Amino acid sequence: MIIPVETKNTALVLQSDIKNNLGLIYFGEKLTKPAEYSAISGMYKQTEDYTGVANAAYTSSGSRNLFEPAITVRHADGNNALDLRYVRHTVEKLDNNVSLVSVFLKDPVYALDVSLFYKVYYNEDVVEQWSSIKNNEKGNVVLKKFASANLYFKGEAFWLNQYHGDWAKEMRPEESKLTHGIKTLDTKLGTRANLFQPSVFMISMDKRATEDEGTVLYGSLEWSGNFRTDLELDNQDNLRIIAGINNYASDYTLKPKEIFTTPAFLYTLSTTGKGLASRNLHNWARNYKLLDGKGDRLTLLNNWEATYFDFNENKLFELIKDTKKLGVDLFLLDDGWFGNKYPRNGDGAGLGDWQENKEKLPNGISSLVKEADNNGVKFGIWIEPEMVNPKSELYEKHPDWIVKQPKREEYYFRNQLELDLTNPKVQDFVFDVVDGLFTKNPNLSYIKWDCNAVIYNAYSATLKDQSHFYIEYVRGLYNVLKRIRVKYPTVPMMLCSGGGGRVDYAALQYFTEYWPSDNTDPMERIFIQWEYSYFYPAIASANHVTDWGKQPIKFRTDVAMMGKLGFDIVVSELADADLRFCQDAIKIYNTLKPVIFHGDQYRLSDPKTNAVASMSYIDANKSSGVIFNYLVNNRYGENSKFPIRMRGLDPSKSYRLTELNLYPATKSSIDSSKTYTGDFLMKIGFNPDVRASRTSVVVKIEAI
Ligand code: DGJ
Repeated sequence: MIIPVETKNTALVLQSDIKNNLGLIYFGEKLTKPAEYSAISGMYKQTEDYTGVANAAYTSSGSRNLFEPAITVRHADGNNALDLRYVRHTVEKLDNNVSLVSVFLKDPVYALDVSLFYKVYYNEDVVEQWSSIKNNEKGNVVLKKFASANLYFKGEAFWLNQYHGDWAKEMRPEESKLTHGIKTLDTKLGTRANLFQPSVFMISMDKRATEDEGTVLYGSLEWSGNFRTDLELDNQDNLRIIAGINNYASDYTLKPKEIFTTPAFLYTLSTTGKGLASRNLHNWARNYKLLDGKGDRLTLLNNWEATYFDFNENKLFELIKDTKKLGVDLFLLDDGWFGNKYPRNGDGAGLGDWQENKEKLPNGISSLVKEADNNGVKFGIWIEPEMVNPKSELYEKHPDWIVKQPKREEYYFRNQLELDLTNPKVQDFVFDVVDGLFTKNPNLSYIKWDCNAVIYNAYSATLKDQSHFYIEYVRGLYNVLKRIRVKYPTVPMMLCSGGGGRVDYAALQYFTEYWPSDNTDPMERIFIQWEYSYFYPAIASANHVTDWGKQPIKFRTDVAMMGKLGFDIVVSELADADLRFCQDAIKIYNTLKPVIFHGDQYRLSDPKTNAVASMSYIDANKSSGVIFNYLVNNRYGENSKFPIRMRGLDPSKSYRLTELNLYPATKSSIDSSKTYTGDFLMKIGFNPDVRASRTSVVVKIEAI
């Protein structure tokens, strides 16, 4: 029996043999004649698979399997062996583009059922895969590993592109050829799970993929907690990928009749390079996942770097006026507005006490919202509702709501601890923080939701089974976010985690944007945003102009315009020309937003390997767009020596290119009276004339 899971361009093909072992026989470019899928395996003359299950669609452990399992269990009678066999499958068309393939597996000896789900987004070439495990045994079954997905690839060689980082160093790429054995990508940080390593990765098959060439898989787990992906190159030289929640310290006990459903592992396969894979993911995210993915976003002025904790009502009133003067949509009040017994005047106190600080804000948030209203701008606010400082009233009142080991010394990350979101009472508290703000301030228009600590000393005072802690924490977080979205379905919220410590597609269902990094030095941001752009659309990337770095305001603003633009500077201290530049740039940005948010993104010149970074956004009709270009190498004489080849244009159209965002009193060296065909621009390219005196060049491209 052959089960093809097909998207527009790819096919993942499952097959059950006469003994009902379910294997993955192919994942690659779709064949014209589906009947030929069964002939694929015969074309390989690799070393023998002694087990007969090396290509299992969901590798079980304790029976014949000799490889890394997707699932490991301890049955009710203490036996550890599992052997899953195909029972049946269904294919449901959910709409014109989305279908669900469900495959049911069963252990012939034990009453344990596993279902594999493949949700197929046809046009986007995207699959979300997850599994559910049902205990039909008489007693408890313990799940010791419970992956979402298990893939299997044949290829001459495999290159892994993975990411690592830390605070202000998010999304640093590393590419390596996979060697035999297992490479594991994982996190055990609990919250802020991506701090050292996000779950996103790429695998190039046969040869290293480029933007336009090669077969490449992008993968990512839709989960905001501990994840684990095992990449195993086996004795046959095939690659097994097993991804899911990290089973680290997380044995999960399933009671009789109970079902455990894993989060989805998301993947897209492109046989024509990385560019298509990322555009497919962007489309999928905007169409199906990211909150308000097809909508608009608010430009804003944030006070974090302008004031840090040092502000009062008057100062904020001035900043609200500056918001208007600058010409952005919203003022965002950051950390430091709360706490009375333990005022939040630094990061050592106050978290958990979400009452306005009476000294700083004697008239509360509502007077700020009113002032914003009077100035014709919107008002947003920062919260970090999952956290508590030991110096807080909340800590004194509810010691049992806090994640810590009862008999051990407390250990802090940024002087704080997590609230125990596995506890429904704590979930209510966190929901009430948000709900209270909106109830008291119905005009509140934006939330920045921060999460600055990792989990140390994982323990819940109320959870029965401590090894469920990491999983129940994330589920608790989602419960709260779901409740917020039921009551406040559209209000924009930024997903922030001390920088980009928590960006993933499960969380982004509840958020309109994410904060990629606290590192806003534009030179750094070119690299950081570049790497995020493989996986997340520009509309979701909150980019702020700050005083980080040595670049002029134009460079900083141009870089921030490549996503959702914001400012975090002291507007009143801007030189006149700088202010005028920003005001004009915001007006221009407002005209470019549609194509930046909803267009197709093309990475044209990679800052990792070139002196010039170049990225374009082109609308669906290929009739207009914008190209951002930067000098990223300061060596003497470095410039855009060569034309930059465009992508995604219509070869038969003629285009005019005009420089935008010119600093006051400067002239462009680009002659906008000239036109070029798309054919010319894609084969020969265009030179934006980037050099030491023109380090940042924004070019509008329009078909005429
Ligand atoms: C970390 C965030 O990433 C910053 O933008 C800022 O909101 C601070 N937290 C506030 O404490």
